Amino acid sequence: MRRGSIASLLVIGIVAGGIAAAVALALPWLPTPASREAGRIDFTIWFVVVICIVIFSIVAAALIYSILTFRARPDDLEDGPPIHGHTGLEIVWTIIPTILVTAIGIVSAVVLSRDDALGKNVLRVNVTAQQFAWSFSYPEAKGLTSGTLMLPKGRSVQLVMHSKDVIHSFWVPEFGQKEDTVPGLTTTLHITPDRLGTFPVICTELCGLGHAVMRTQAVVMTPTAFAKWLRSQTAAVSSPNPSVSGAAVFKNNACGACHTLAAAGATGKVGPDLDKLPAYAAQAKQPLESFVQDSIVKPNAYIQPGYHPNVMPPTFGTSLSKPQLDALVQYLVSSSKKG
Ligand code: CUA
Repeated sequence: MRRGSIASLLVIGIVAGGIAAAVALALPWLPTPASREAGRIDFTIWFVVVICIVIFSIVAAALIYSILTFRARPDDLEDGPPIHGHTGLEIVWTIIPTILVTAIGIVSAVVLSRDDALGKNVLRVNVTAQQFAWSFSYPEAKGLTSGTLMLPKGRSVQLVMHSKDVIHSFWVPEFGQKEDTVPGLTTTLHITPDRLGTFPVICTELCGLGHAVMRTQAVVMTPTAFAKWLRSQTAAVSSPNPSVSGAAVFKNNACGACHTLAAAGATGKVGPDLDKLPAYAAQAKQPLESFVQDSIVKPNAYIQPGYHPNVMPPTFGTSLSKPQLDALVQYLVSSSKKG
């Protein structure tokens, strides 16, 4: 092979590799990781991308060089010389990909097993998905429930997930992993948050009319701030005052994901506007309080024109305790009268 050919191949390969590397690096393909698991997943992706760019450069160099050098001239009507196999070349192009694919397999297996390995002092959080809301409860804090996923930085967190109705899927892009919640099954996901901040929690399995609004937030806080939050919430839960706050029931069940209610700062558009409950009750020719209670317990009994049946989960009312239901009804009645 002539020196000039090698130089041309090298130049074409470097240019092609440079363009591919620029595309890989310049565009924000992935969010900045916020968990150790996501960091390892990102490493695996970059490991594969680098291998791909090297292979792309070699193939592009050989292809472009061949097109430029060996193409048939307009007056060349002869067939080329017959070519038989080249054993050495075939061995090389079998062994190299075998090594590369095996390396990718090993890196992936190591990352998967390390990502699944729970650390010490695991924080367990029970995740409940239902149309169309997430709720998170902390067995460590006597079952304290929150509509926002609060997590301490640096601690191994095990999410234990259930669904009340259909299949949903839990996804925080910055945590790099997705996990389905399946009715009748318990699924788990391990996360070790390593960056402070607020990140979106997204349902990534089409689960009904309100799928697109089935979102909340994950807040990663310092361990001290988390302990303080847990204490303040636990104190509120176990306070001797037996009255249940309707506002808390509304918030913890993420009613605002689907409904508008000015008093709660909720702006959901999937279900009826709860600020208009008195008008709806009048249309349904029912007293306001029993109308509100019936609409929670038997959501299909009366469907406000412009909205759809079977969107509000029929199990929602029965999943509340009697005091919670009463508090929610009173809260909605008084808030909507003001609104
Ligand atoms: Cu739940 Cu989509």
